[in-house]
Amino acid sequence: MTDRSNPMAAPSRLLEVALEAAAAAAALIRDAAPRVRSIEWRTKKPADFVSEVDLAAEAAILAVVRRAIPDAGILAEESASTITPERRDAGIVFVIDPLDGTTNFLHGYPEYAVSIGVLVDGVPTVGVVTDVALGETFTAVAGGGAFVNGTPIRVSPIDDPRRALIGTGFPFTRIEDVEPYARQLAQVMKGAAGVRRAGAAALDLAAVAAGRFEAFWETVLSPWDIAAGILLVREAGGVVTDLDGAPCPVARTGVVAGNVQIHSWLMGELRRGL
Ligand code: IPD
Ligand code: CA
Ligand code: CA
Repeated sequence: MTDRSNPMAAPSRLLEVALEAAAAAAALIRDAAPRVRSIEWRTKKPADFVSEVDLAAEAAILAVVRRAIPDAGILAEESASTITPERRDAGIVFVIDPLDGTTNFLHGYPEYAVSIGVLVDGVPTVGVVTDVALGETFTAVAGGGAFVNGTPIRVSPIDDPRRALIGTGFPFTRIEDVEPYARQLAQVMKGAAGVRRAGAAALDLAAVAAGRFEAFWETVLSPWDIAAGILLVREAGGVVTDLDGAPCPVARTGVVAGNVQIHSWLMGELRRGL
């Protein structure tokens, strides 16, 4: 368990470190963007890529975190298999997606982010998501609200699904997931004002927190996609659950996020679509 009198564990200190790390990675990604066509990338699994920029951004984040808090646990996408902490629920753990929206980045489509969530004894305590192309940084500290570039944000007040803009993510790695997903998508499309698939889950969750999407869902996401975004949504007054309606864990899971009313409507439509 974390000693809460330890100044390293103070949420304000964790936020400072997460912000410094996110800024280092964002600067590196921004510098690389103009030469995107000459960047080396390889396929991890079908439709799932990693580039030298993902790796360099992750290294930049790890350097900042390790210098500031040497004994912090690390769960980072590109090195997950080598440095996943044995116990995610004890002490300080930085959960890192160095470049969320890699496919967008590699095509010059300006929707990609750095996402850093910090868990303290398993509890989401700090979240930072930087939209690299737009220069927006979303932050949240547990109990302290959510912000974009320092300005407070809230989830949308729109409670009529016919006026709601819903974000989603496609299941793109397992072909057998496509048909059930398509039925759910059809169900949601029939009732909502619009549906968007932007391609970076951390930014989708930030969009819910900022009231730009009334809700968002995706059927499978990884801890690094959501660790920061879950806290952003909750601190902005929204709800985040798994597909069964249970509070969303920082794990490999399905996610439904939104303001209270549209979250509840979306859960109903997803069930009806199955
Ligand atoms: C992906 C993006 C995408 C989502 C995928 C994620 P990556 O992350 O967040 O929007 O649909 O499920 O894996 O691979 O670009 O970091
Ligand atoms: Ca991701
Ligand atoms: Ca990534």
